Amino acid sequence: MEALVIRGGSPLYGTVEINGAKNAALPILAATVLHGGVYLLQNCPDITDVAMAAEIIEALGGRVRRAGKTLTVDTREVSAWTVPAELMARMRASVLFLGPLLGRFGRAVLTAPGGCPLGKRPIDLHLDAVTQMGAVVTLQEGEILCEASALHGCTMDLLFPSVGATENAMLAATACRGTVVIRNAAREPEISDLAGFLCAMGAEICGAGTGTVTVTGGRPLGDAVYRVLPDRIETATYLCAVAGCGGSITLTHTDGSLLLPVLEVLSNAGCRVEQQGDCLKLQAQLPLRASGSIETAPYPGFPTDAQALMMAALLRAEGSTRFSETIFERRFSHVEQLRRFGAEIETAGPTALVRGVRWLHPAEAAGSDLRAAAAVLLAALQAPGISRIYGIKHLHRGYDNLEGGLRSLGAEIAREYDWKFPA
Ligand code: UD1
Repeated sequence: MEALVIRGGSPLYGTVEINGAKNAALPILAATVLHGGVYLLQNCPDITDVAMAAEIIEALGGRVRRAGKTLTVDTREVSAWTVPAELMARMRASVLFLGPLLGRFGRAVLTAPGGCPLGKRPIDLHLDAVTQMGAVVTLQEGEILCEASALHGCTMDLLFPSVGATENAMLAATACRGTVVIRNAAREPEISDLAGFLCAMGAEICGAGTGTVTVTGGRPLGDAVYRVLPDRIETATYLCAVAGCGGSITLTHTDGSLLLPVLEVLSNAGCRVEQQGDCLKLQAQLPLRASGSIETAPYPGFPTDAQALMMAALLRAEGSTRFSETIFERRFSHVEQLRRFGAEIETAGPTALVRGVRWLHPAEAAGSDLRAAAAVLLAALQAPGISRIYGIKHLHRGYDNLEGGLRSLGAEIAREYDWKFPA
């Protein structure tokens, strides 16, 4: 198994440019299937989840080409409405093709989506949303068949502000006859970015980023050029890395206003955080102060995707921090791995209590999902000595060259096969 070797224990200093957001790029890529056209997506991160979305578009008959951070997506020849089971199984976001395929062809065939193992991740809200627009959903032999001779307008109340269900509802609604009002919609910035792209295609959408999104369907759609918004979770990852190790960082091409609860915890912990234009700066002097309690919540609350990262940053903070995970039922897989470095963490159901320790020691550990893998890496960077991290394929799913970015800050990270640190 491929491993990263890390010699930790040093502060980090430098500047990193933030990439486009994975969670915005994925629904935008799905949206290109709604209408046969040519789309230029700038600032599209080079990560395996994006490559998988591109594979789905190609399996449906489209073409995707990358030049640097720009993807050209040609969906004029898309003619299939079945997402192959093998591609569905590879990531959760494959379910986002449901709305566009149903909108374009009046039918979509999918199977259960895969993705990070974070407990139960049903798609009932997605199916319910399209059913309310007139689709008939049939489950047969593991396949989910959705059909609608014509989608119609409606007002729907999501039982939970699910990010993916809000996106699927917006995608299908763009092609319906009538107006769809989505209440209790997710308010994440990536929802606004999807709406921005759909409007660039010609759609009419109001209220994205608020709890009520209104889509006036049936507008003529066409080619679009769009720049994906900065990745707030990649931003949080670098901030937490420097907060945990000490040092200072300037992140360019990013927007701290998209992650205010994360910045608040870091400020309360003693870090100096400052946004100047599109640069976000953080200075951290150790030891940090623990943070009392952190509860994950839908946007604008503390993001569940930053829970493991912040936990890694606060392992050596003075005092205790209680983390409560309210979005996913099994999102503490990193805890056991962080304990390998000497972290003191007790879990009870959806909470984890971190008691700050003075030292972490090097360890061998593995991340079993994207953010867990990043959290383990952040712990290794703090531990003086040589650590080995496994499960790095998860990092590549969501981070565009995280190793390179951290190395540019002075971190000593190498692939095990070419491991050679200076004495
Ligand atoms: C998206 C993000 C993911 C992030 C999550 C929460 C993408 C590609 N992924 O995932 O990084 O962690 O938002 O911010 O954007 N649920 C149901 N039924 C459904 C749908 C969801 O019960 O039909 C539940 C889920 O099991 C989970 C909760 O709702 O407990 C939140 O899920 P959701 O907001 O849908 O997350 P994703 O869109 O999968």
